[in-house]
Amino acid sequence: MKGIILSGGSGTRLRPLTKITSKQLLPVYNKPMIYYPLNTLIKAGIKEILIIVAPERAGDYLNLLGSGKEFGVKFTYEIQDKPAGLPEAFIIGESFIGKEDVTMILGDNIFEDDFAEDIKSFKSGAKVFARRVPDPERFGVVKFDDQMHAVQVEEKPQTWISDYALTGLYVYDNRVVEVAKNCQPSSRGELEIVDLHRWYLDKGELDVAMVHGEWLDAGTFESLLRAQNFAKEKMQDKMVI
Ligand code: G1P
Repeated sequence: MKGIILSGGSGTRLRPLTKITSKQLLPVYNKPMIYYPLNTLIKAGIKEILIIVAPERAGDYLNLLGSGKEFGVKFTYEIQDKPAGLPEAFIIGESFIGKEDVTMILGDNIFEDDFAEDIKSFKSGAKVFARRVPDPERFGVVKFDDQMHAVQVEEKPQTWISDYALTGLYVYDNRVVEVAKNCQPSSRGELEIVDLHRWYLDKGELDVAMVHGEWLDAGTFESLLRAQNFAKEKMQDKMVI
């Protein structure tokens, strides 16, 4: 299993904090934000991790994270020239992924849960992680039937379909590289991760697991503030880095 941290983008929602640095390098209590998703991958036993960054911040990531030796893993770096959607990570990462399966985590997602078992036991298809939220319109969402089988996935639906957000942690088998390459840009001009989920859902191969602990996407001022307190109160004993 290979790992990817997607840490590109220009963080426009967090200006002026992101005027001179990357969102995922901002402090979240006592660590840079990216340490939290990195911690999640390392705890899951993933040893080879591709970090995808924006060109103007690449030097900062190298200075901060280096080769990975310090963390007992190996980092590879790639540049995302402009944010063209999450599936682009699998196109940029094609040669890094090779013939293996891949877990991607977003650089601004902070999870209390430990996903080691989910990731180690992964065989094939796609596995995504959902959590009930009060503001589903901010996220990709999944709708379940009476037996809690996923029946529909939508990106930021304008009208309510479900309270279950899809978090920024995704496990896919190797087919995801080809699926991403065949993805078409949406009306906002980006490749959409929900199209990858839908491809697996249509084949009956989308497994949706529940996130039980706290989960935050620290991409807005409000959620960044919550992340600071959450990291201080709940994450300190969960960090291995
Ligand atoms: C992205 C995904 C969305 C997901 C979210 C999790 O949204 O497109 O499906 O729910 O991450 O953080 P973004 O935060 O890039 O708007």
